[in-house]
Amino acid sequence: MKNIPFRAIAAALLVLGLGWGCSKPSGSASAPAPAAGDVKIGFIVKQPEEPWFGLEWKFADQAAKELGFALVKIGATDGEKVLTAIDNLAAGGAQGFVICTPDTRLGPAIVAKAKADNLKLIAVDDQFLGADGKPMTDVHYLGISAYKIGQSVGTTLAGEMKQRGWSAADTAVCAVTFEELATAKERTDGAISALTGAGFPADRIFKAPQRTSDIPGAFAAVDVLLTQKPGIKHWLVCGMNDSAVLGAVRALEQRGYAPDTCAGVGINGTDCIVEFEKDKPTSFFGSMLLSAKQHGHDTAAMMFHWIKDGTEPPLDSRTVGVLITRDNFRQVLKEQGIRD
Ligand code: GLA
Repeated sequence: MKNIPFRAIAAALLVLGLGWGCSKPSGSASAPAPAAGDVKIGFIVKQPEEPWFGLEWKFADQAAKELGFALVKIGATDGEKVLTAIDNLAAGGAQGFVICTPDTRLGPAIVAKAKADNLKLIAVDDQFLGADGKPMTDVHYLGISAYKIGQSVGTTLAGEMKQRGWSAADTAVCAVTFEELATAKERTDGAISALTGAGFPADRIFKAPQRTSDIPGAFAAVDVLLTQKPGIKHWLVCGMNDSAVLGAVRALEQRGYAPDTCAGVGINGTDCIVEFEKDKPTSFFGSMLLSAKQHGHDTAAMMFHWIKDGTEPPLDSRTVGVLITRDNFRQVLKEQGIRD
């Protein structure tokens, strides 16, 4: 032991994340506040190909322009990529990052890495889970009011069923589920509770569990369900987001269901624009439009003020959704700055 130079021990401690700087709680930096132009913030997302995340980035860029900080956008689809991205951000001089993690169980590892690299951290969209499987409520988080928004999906579907005069005997619900993700489970649980609350029979509600939370994952899951439940005249569809419902709508079309025999309502409102712009309506009836601006712009701005002025963001913020359909989407998207 006596032959090991002090510098080597210090370096090893740093690698292990035990260096002096690392024991400082993030937020209590004693260094003078950086100038706006010296602030660098990372924005890491789990599914960069999904329009929702592209919009978060677009709005985060807007915040960077307004406030004069540098933004580094990173797509990280698995845990290894996330941890490398965090190290690269630190090496590149960033002081903090916003992240939608590809796996919420990475929470403790991400927190440890951020601490070791002395980076501030805000989780967006998907809340971290601790080793005990419970939400890490001590990590700053901005997400949606998932259960409530899910309930609005269910209420909309029940209303459409009534409006179209479909009987319960002829109708079934397909809930495209992704229950390993808490915000996704809350959404579909909310939709199901609103449907049963409106009198829809619970024994005609069927779950189609997605293996992956994208359109192909939903398509495959619903295809299996449709094989198991032939002969149903009308399907009402809910899911964690637009991709889930789009996958279901494509699976229904493939089975020969005409657009006006089924109705699906998604969540995000950002990944269904092409669908609404189609000449002819499909079974994708509507979507709960979320605020990509709050999720992208506001989280990045919160991080900026935290780094620059020491203003700590709220620990838990929840955003709402509004229903868009083919009838009003152009107007609403324009109001929200998503479309010109
Ligand atoms: C999750 C979903 C996204 C989007 C966000 C909204 O991350 O995967 O599609 O719905 O939540 O917070």
